[in-house]
Amino acid sequence: MKIAVLPGDGIGPEIVAEAVKVLNALGLNFEMETAPVGGAAYEASGHPLPPATLKLAMESDAVLFGAVGDWKYDTLDRPLRPEQAILGLRKNMGLFANFRPAICYKELVDASSLKPELISGLDILIIRELTGDIYFGQPRGRRTADDGHFPGSEEAFDTMRYSKPEIERIAHVAFQAAQKRSKRVTSVDKANVLETFQFWKDVVSEVSAQYPDVALDHMYVDNAAMQLVKEPKRFDVVVTGNMFGDILSDEASMLTGSIGMLPSASLNSKGQGLYEPSHGSAPDIAGKGIANPLATILSAAMMLRFSLNQEAAAQKIEAAVQKVLADGLRTADIYSVGTTKVSTREMGDAVVAALAAV
Ligand code: IPM
Ligand code: MG
Repeated sequence: MKIAVLPGDGIGPEIVAEAVKVLNALGLNFEMETAPVGGAAYEASGHPLPPATLKLAMESDAVLFGAVGDWKYDTLDRPLRPEQAILGLRKNMGLFANFRPAICYKELVDASSLKPELISGLDILIIRELTGDIYFGQPRGRRTADDGHFPGSEEAFDTMRYSKPEIERIAHVAFQAAQKRSKRVTSVDKANVLETFQFWKDVVSEVSAQYPDVALDHMYVDNAAMQLVKEPKRFDVVVTGNMFGDILSDEASMLTGSIGMLPSASLNSKGQGLYEPSHGSAPDIAGKGIANPLATILSAAMMLRFSLNQEAAAQKIEAAVQKVLADGLRTADIYSVGTTKVSTREMGDAVVAALAAV
């Protein structure tokens, strides 16, 4: 089992170190190799996704990824910005299916800005298509407008597009995930305005005929954004495109009060996956030892489950995380009066200790 470890920027190295510590404590036989990515790689070699890093990722069974990005790179040409590393990994590895669970841990129910009764027991799975849509559509660029309200002026454009096979494969992923859960899928689109998303809706409906045991409903993205804060528990599996999924998954993560708790998995059709916390590189708190490593540790659990076929070890990590929360340990982002505030490293150590007790 070969794991590529790509810590990246900001808090990335600190949180990934704790997840590696937890993986090592399992006593399984992993081969782990670390490589630079993002701004760190740009500093070292002039490119955010050096060929050697991409090669390592493609040859591994799974990638454990920290985070990339820092405001100091905002003025670089787009192809050199840290974000291009994660987009390049997704595209080159074909990681089209992104799983972003939003789970409310009962110990953290008061950390949300929503009323406890709205979110207690919340367990949503957002499935975001990750290699298509306006993120990757061509053509894109800048030009001189030759029509519209301001002909002759400078304009920028991106292309939103989806092919039928791209929609079909993510729809299958969503219906199959729903079969293992509460057998409900909400497909989010903007079919009232965008042809791309009328097509999305039509294709998802067509695929649903193969899953008579799963109930499908459709929702416009603006309404979905509203329903997520009005009545989040109405959702179970949510499937949507790349752009809407980016936005809705940030919204959903904050329902739980703790973006520092949420893992994610991005899978291709070969079972390879990239596993990363849902949060970003948080350069403002980097190096202070206060970041929450639990999202990354839980991402390692997803890696064991989805790419390394180690379900028992995945459950062990998840149980250990539950235990440290039940024991009252909290990093600063989830701290509340009456609990014990711990550092990044202390949290990792506590999970390792809890592994022996679960
Ligand atoms: C995410 C991030 C990325 C995205 C950025 C860093 C390119 O926001 O993973 O959600 O937009 O997909
Ligand atoms: Mg995002």
